[in-house]
Amino acid sequence: MSLYSTLFDHGLTRLDAEKAHRLGFRAVRAARPALARRRAPGAPVTAMGLTFPNVLGLAAGFDKNAVGIAALGALGFGHVEVGTVTGEPQPGNDKPRLFRLPADRAVVNRMGFNNDGAEVVAARLAARRRRDGGPVLGVNIGRTKVVPEDAAVGDYEKSARLLAPHADYLVINVSSPNTPGLRNLQAVEKLEPILRAVQDVAGGVPLLVKIAPDLPDDDVIAVADLATAIGLAGIVATNTTISREGLASSPAQVAAVGAGGLSGRPLAARSLEVLRLLRSRVGDGLTLIGVGGITTVEDAQARIDAGADLLQGYTAFVYEGPGWPRRILKGLS
Ligand code: FNR
Repeated sequence: MSLYSTLFDHGLTRLDAEKAHRLGFRAVRAARPALARRRAPGAPVTAMGLTFPNVLGLAAGFDKNAVGIAALGALGFGHVEVGTVTGEPQPGNDKPRLFRLPADRAVVNRMGFNNDGAEVVAARLAARRRRDGGPVLGVNIGRTKVVPEDAAVGDYEKSARLLAPHADYLVINVSSPNTPGLRNLQAVEKLEPILRAVQDVAGGVPLLVKIAPDLPDDDVIAVADLATAIGLAGIVATNTTISREGLASSPAQVAAVGAGGLSGRPLAARSLEVLRLLRSRVGDGLTLIGVGGITTVEDAQARIDAGADLLQGYTAFVYEGPGWPRRILKGLS
């Protein structure tokens, strides 16, 4: 039994999940000076004109406000996707809003894009000193809750203008289930103006779109074709699901948790399927980032075999602890 799993089983799981996240993240940041400068295993990956130290990154939502990039890189992540950042600062939904379903190795969240807003995060990134060998930095942007759906373009544009100068790549998030109406923006006729507006202000920073696993295959294909047509750099597949099918947790537990996006192991099969569909549609042209339920080395390898250029994880990192990225990278190499 590792120290982390002992801590997790006897300490962190007894805490409210969001408090545990805050404490865990604080510990990672505090430990950074002590974290070895030891390089993580794994070969560099070239994608979107960038060189990633390795294939595995930390998915969006863990470091929403870009306060722990170097420490997370020191754990082995070759890239860190900060955010989601919105045009305006906002508190997110009422607590509790983050729940574990341990029997499924899953998490349900309805955080609702709690974040400091694009201006504050841009200033924080501008002040940051980049280190050689540090992680590649992705910035994930989403729509402010109070901004009406038909004004979404301007909100994304504002975030992109402020954040692109500090990002290695940008992700347009239209797939969180926790901002009402957000996922409607995945319809290509709504998505295209957002992507074009962001492209215009991004100054050549590679642009990706992040999609939901709940999109029907036809809509996945439509997004893939749009991405190719307008010259996006890539697609991140996938975000969390609103589905609760096939869970081991009891219906009462699932009901008690309530609404939100489900992540972790139960998501793996559909995320893999979406990835495979995307690769079959876009050919070699686009970079695909595989995310959703990656837990074991086998999961990671399956995603690479299905055509992922890069991988990300979040929920397995929460369950498995700070040694998780290195374990996956070692197993892959
Ligand atoms: C997320 N995720 C997420 N994604 C995103 O694009 N913006 C965000 O702000 C968040 N926030 C967030 C919070 C929490 C608590 C979780 C668990 C997840 C989704 C995340 O980036 C990823 O796409 C999914 O969690 C699927 O990957 P895993 O967790 O199964 O590896």
